[in-house]
Amino acid sequence: ITVAVIFGGQSSEHEVSLMSASNMISALDSRRYDVIPVGITKKGCWMIYSGPVERIRTGEWEKYSTPVVLSPDASKKCLLKLVNGRYKEISIDVALPALHGAWGEDGTIQGLFEMAQIPYVGCGVLSSAVSMDKVYTKLIAKAAKIPMAKYIWLHMRDWDKKEAILNKAERRLGYPCFVKPSNAGSSVGITKAKNREELEKAILFAARYDKKVIIEEAIDGREFECSVLGNEQIRVSGVGEILAAAEFYDYDAKYNNADSRTVIPAEVDEAAAEEMRKIAAKIYRAVDGAGLARVDFFMEKESGRVLFNELNTMPGFTSISMYPMLWEERGMTKTELMDCLIALALD
Ligand code: DAL
Ligand code: MG
Repeated sequence: ITVAVIFGGQSSEHEVSLMSASNMISALDSRRYDVIPVGITKKGCWMIYSGPVERIRTGEWEKYSTPVVLSPDASKKCLLKLVNGRYKEISIDVALPALHGAWGEDGTIQGLFEMAQIPYVGCGVLSSAVSMDKVYTKLIAKAAKIPMAKYIWLHMRDWDKKEAILNKAERRLGYPCFVKPSNAGSSVGITKAKNREELEKAILFAARYDKKVIIEEAIDGREFECSVLGNEQIRVSGVGEILAAAEFYDYDAKYNNADSRTVIPAEVDEAAAEEMRKIAAKIYRAVDGAGLARVDFFMEKESGRVLFNELNTMPGFTSISMYPMLWEERGMTKTELMDCLIALALD
């Protein structure tokens, strides 16, 4: 089976994708799969890479790559590599978009695979798009009666009514509150605001990433994650806890701070863990998930209430990422997990 592993990409999570893709490639059983690594540069150029996986992780891959494109022609199902000014066809059986964030996890590249009729790992166009956009995820979760933190959202075209927006946030959510771009991942663009001045700044900062901005009440509590795997039949993993080595699990705390820890399985009572697993399955169904997703939660300290936070349709596979670790805890190695993901894509 020939697997095109697509990595890098134009989103703010380019570097995270390099880590995820390296780990995924290392976990793919070389006796079963021919791996074709395809990198997308930050500018959006597609390049075919050959060489040690370590150079993907470090970003050096670009120097050892040649331009390539994916043919949208469904009768071909191939990559087109430029050789001496001519396109050479490289057939592929399945694509693995090891990409996070915009143009990777938001339904856009999934649309390209649909056009080309190339099977791909993970969620489809609609579920990817809906899960990437926090405002839409919340609308779906609300319709499915899934409990969440209180929030409001705004579009920057309404920023001329700034005073009214800030007043509404203060009235409904109070301080501290979290300000997030509706479309972004790995906590990029997120700020915790403690007063009106910070709130205004935080909104403008989030708006650099997306014109739709979400403001959420800050939950005083703990943070948990749960993995889902499957198409029609789904499996839900146990629950893990995030112990962030910062005020919240921001980009730095996630990838650069070795003091951030994960606890698997989480030390939490069985009823709460079961509640999270139930919600994980419910939201996965509600967004019409396929392949995989990681579902993130808060648990309020005082009430013990479990609140759905978000859904990640291409969760990180970095060395600190919870998605594969939660399956390892259930006895599935990373290699078995990759087998499963490829089989689901070809299903
Ligand atoms: N967006 C990052 C990769 C995650 O959810 O794991
Ligand atoms: Mg995320």
